[in-house]
Parts: sequence; structure tokens; C-alpha cells
Amino acid sequence: MANSWIRGLPTLRQGRISLREIQAEDDEPIVALFRDPRVARHLADPPRSRKSFREFLKWSAGTRLAGRYTGFAVRQGAKTVGMMYVWVVAPGTAEIGFALTPSAWGTGVFRVAGALLCRFAFDVMKLHRLEMRVAVENTRAQVAVYKLGATPEGLLRDSFYKDGRYRDSVMFRLLRPELAASRR
Ligand SMILES: CC(C)(COP(=O)(O)OP(=O)(O)OC[C@H]1O[C@@H](n2cnc3c(N)ncnc32)[C@H](O)[C@@H]1OP(=O)(O)O)[C@@H](O)C(=O)NCCC(=O)NCCS
Repeated sequence: MANSWIRGLPTLRQGRISLREIQAEDDEPIVALFRDPRVARHLADPPRSRKSFREFLKWSAGTRLAGRYTGFAVRQGAKTVGMMYVWVVAPGTAEIGFALTPSAWGTGVFRVAGALLCRFAFDVMKLHRLEMRVAVENTRAQVAVYKLGATPEGLLRDSFYKDGRYRDSVMFRLLRPELAASRR
């Protein structure tokens, strides 16, 4: 049924990788993830304490019910190894974001989980355009989203604030046919 995701998120699965709605039991791995300086380095303001994670969960469930947000835990087997989200910013358009624990980097988890997230955004949320804002210095994430099929569209000057200064980001877009043509 259209918009059924608003009432609750399905589990998306490919092999041992799955995405399920982020929940209270994810607090330890997710707080550890965002406390890791290798992960937090290019992110504006991720939840770094159990209290801020609880507040984030409340916000996440409320904005899902409003049809604006889906927050998933990335699971490898029974272990939470990251999180991903789709945040609707305009009709048909959403920003997506992702972070994985460094031990999962370069293992292929991102390729599978990123494609699951994007297919869900296009097929179930019926979105037309996905946007990714990636810090200019974050070349690893730029290559990762490029290989998913995303295309850089331009530079967003002073687009987020971190550690006392404004930072530039690259805006990437992904349209549905571009996901199917993801680059190897
Ligand atoms: C972004 C993220 C989810 C990507 O997952 P990943 O497993 O690291 O990505 P992949 O390994 O599939 O792809 C990264 C690619 O960049 C390449 N790469 C790594 N470091 C690089 C660098 N400094 N410069 C250029 N390319 C680099 C890798 O070799 C790989 O390419 P390959 O598949 O041809 O080998 C993960 O790195 C992460 O969680 N980063 C921290 C949080 C973050 O930055 N999130 C994005 C916010 S927009």
C-alpha cells in the first residue's frame, strides 16, 4: 500500500546485510560509531551520547509518522554496523546519509546497503531524486557514492559548520535510472 512505510519500516535484506528501523537496542553501537573520530570527522552533528541518541530516536519516529524521514540500522548478520537515512526535503526529493563502522569500510557492505536504501527510496517512498551532501575533504565517501551511480552537481560553499568553521560540500544527485547504472 502506498505510504505504508509511514506506519513502520520493513526490513530490507540482501544476503547477510539488512536494513531495519533504528531502535533503542542500537544505542551502544551507534553512539560508538559516531564517537569514532574517523567517522565523525566530516559529519555535522551526529548523536554522540545515549541521551542524544534517545532524543534522536524520538525525532526519527515522529518525522517518519509525518512522512519525512526513515532511519535504518545497517546490520551484518546480528550486528549493527552502521546507520543510513532518507530525509524528504521537498516533494519527490530527499537527502540520504550513511555511516559505517570503520571495520566494515571497503568490505562491500556499503555497496549492498546503499543500493538497498536507494531502491527503497525510489520504489517504496516513490521519490524521484536523492541528494547527498559530502564534505569536500571526504574523498572516500565521494568515491563511494560515485560508484553507487551518483553524479556531482556542484560545490555548496560554507554549507555546514564544524569545529569552529564553515565547511564546503559537494552536492551529488542520484535519479532512479542512474542507480541501475551504478559504476563498478
Ligand atoms: C561513506 C562510507 C559509508 C562508505 O563506505 P566504504 O565501505 O568506506 O566505501 P567503499 O569502500 O565501498 O568505497 C570507497 C571507495 O573510495 C576509495 N577510497 C578510499 N579512501 C580514499 C581516498 N582518501 N581518496 C579517494 N578514494 C578513496 C576506496 O578504495 C573505495 O573505492 P574502491 O571500491 O574502488 O576500492 C564510509 O566510508 C563511512 O562510514 N565514512 C564515515 C561517515 C561518512 O563520511 N559518511 C558520509 C557522509 S555524506
